[in-house]
Amino acid sequence: MSDPVPAMAERAAACADRLRGADSVLLASHIDADGLTSGAIAATALDRAGIPFETTFEKQLDAAAIERIAATEHDVALFTDFGSGQLDDIVPHEERGEFTPVVADHHQPATAEEGAEPPDTDLHLNPLLFGIDGASALSGAGTTYVLARALERAGGDNRDLAALAVVGAVGDMQDTDGGLVGANENIVAEGVEHGVIDEVTDISLYGRQTRPLPKLLEYASELRIPGISGDERGSIRFLSELAVDLKLDGEWRRWVDLSFEERQTVASALMRHAIDRGVPPERVNSVTTTTYTLSAEEVGTELRDVSEFSTVLNATARYERADVGLAICLGYRDEALEQARSLLRNHRRNLSEGLEWVKTEGVTQEEHLQWFDAGTRIRETVVGIIAGMALGESGVRRDHPIIAFAEESAEELKVSSRGSGFLVRDGLDLSAVMSEAAAAVDGGGGGHDVAAGATIPQGRRDEFLEHADEIVGEQLAAGDETASQ
Ligand code: C5P
Ligand code: C5P
Ligand code: ZN
Repeated sequence: MSDPVPAMAERAAACADRLRGADSVLLASHIDADGLTSGAIAATALDRAGIPFETTFEKQLDAAAIERIAATEHDVALFTDFGSGQLDDIVPHEERGEFTPVVADHHQPATAEEGAEPPDTDLHLNPLLFGIDGASALSGAGTTYVLARALERAGGDNRDLAALAVVGAVGDMQDTDGGLVGANENIVAEGVEHGVIDEVTDISLYGRQTRPLPKLLEYASELRIPGISGDERGSIRFLSELAVDLKLDGEWRRWVDLSFEERQTVASALMRHAIDRGVPPERVNSVTTTTYTLSAEEVGTELRDVSEFSTVLNATARYERADVGLAICLGYRDEALEQARSLLRNHRRNLSEGLEWVKTEGVTQEEHLQWFDAGTRIRETVVGIIAGMALGESGVRRDHPIIAFAEESAEELKVSSRGSGFLVRDGLDLSAVMSEAAAAVDGGGGGHDVAAGATIPQGRRDEFLEHADEIVGEQLAAGDETASQ
C-alpha cells in the first residue's frame, strides 16, 4: 500500500520500529479535538500492533506534566499533538534513562535558547521538518495517522482511522480556505477510498446535521448575511418565501432532511439574497465549501459531520472529561454519547456567554494588536476559541491579531492569540510572538503562526503586551518589505 504522506514515510517507519520494540508505551496527548483524535488514532494503532500501552491527557506539556510521565514505569513515551515545542524538556529524560520519547506533532519546534537548533532525534515526526505546513496542511491527528499507517502489521489496514484524522484537522480549523489542502487531502482520499469519509460540496454552515433550518441560517455568523445572520425572524421570513417544506409533522426540518434539489434551492436563494444586499463576491462564493461526513455515523447526529464531531470533543476534553471524548472516538456510544451531549450543552452555553461578555466589554486596541482580559469570566481552556469567534464581531478588527487573557491559577495567567490567513501572509507568526514575549516575562508559550498560546506569571500582563505589540509590529513591517521586493 502507498504512503499517505511520502515525505514523512521514512521517519514514520523509524518511530514505528521504536514503538514495536517497547516493553510498554505511555501515550500522552493534548486536551482538544485534535489531541483527542490523535490519542484515539495512536491507541487504536498500538492496540492493533499488539503493543501494551496506557493513555493520559494533559492541558499543557509543561515540566510538571513531563515529570508525571517520567514517574511511570513505561520505557517509551509517545507524545501526540504536543511535544515538538517541549523537546528541550523531554530529551533530558531519555539521557537519564527514564523513557525514550517518540513525538508525533505539528507545532513549531521550539527551544529554550534563542537561535539554538531543536534537539535532533530520529523519533520526531512533524510535518514542519519535511516542508509541510503544520498549521494548514497537517494536524496532530494527521501526523499520528501517518504513524498509524507505518505501524500496520502485515495484512493490517489502519485506513479507517482517516475519519478521526479529518475530525482532528477540522477541529484545528485547517479547512477554513474552502476545504482541506495538501497532505490532509491525501488522508481524505484514503478515507474516501476506504469508505469511511464522504467528501461533497455543500453549504458552508455549521450544524447541517443537527440544527433546525432557521437556526442554521440565523447562527451563520461567519457568512454575515444582512437580514439573516443573527436575525431569527429574518431567517424564517427568507425560508418561508422558498418552495421548500420547512416542517415535517410540526417539527422544523434540518439541512440533512432536505433533498438534493431542495438544498440547491436554498443555497442559490441565499447567494442571490447576499448579492442583493451588497455582500462582496468572495463572501458570496463562500456560501458553499467542501464538506466531510463520516459514512458510518447515523444521519442527523453530531458525529456524522466532522465539524460538529470536533465541537463534541472540545466539549469533553476542555472540561476535564477527556475520557468521554476518547470513548466517543473509540466507537463507544450509549452512555458516553449521553454524557458528551450534556457536556456539549454546557460548552455551547459557555461559548455564547463568553462571546457576549467580550462584545459587551469590548477589546483594547494597541498599535498592532487588540486584547481583552476575561479574568475568571471565561474558562482558560476555551478563551482561545472565544477569541477566534470574536474576530470580526463589531468593535473587533479583522486586520489585527487578538490576544486574550484568562486566569489559570492564583499565580498564572493563560494567554491565547488568534490571527488570520491574511495576516500570516503579511508576516504574522503568533507562535514566535507568544514564545518570545512569554520568555521576556518568565513564562512560556508557542503554537502555530495563526493561533498560539502561552502561560505567564500574574502581574506581568502589561509588560507581556508591550513585547507582543512590538514583535507583531516588526513581523508585519518585515512582511511589507518582502512583499515590495
Ligand atoms: O494545539 P492544537 O494545534 O491542536 O490547536 C490549534 C488551535 O489553533 C485550535 O484551537 C484551532 O482552533 C486554532 N486555529 C485557529 N485558526 C486557524 C487554525 C487553527 O484558530 N486558522
Ligand atoms: O490554548 P489555545 O487554544 O489558545 O492554543 C493555541 C495553540 O497554541 C494550540 O496549538 C496550543 O497547543 C498552542 N499552545 C502552546 N503553548 C502554550 C499554550 C498554547 O504551544 N503554552
Ligand atoms: Zn493540533
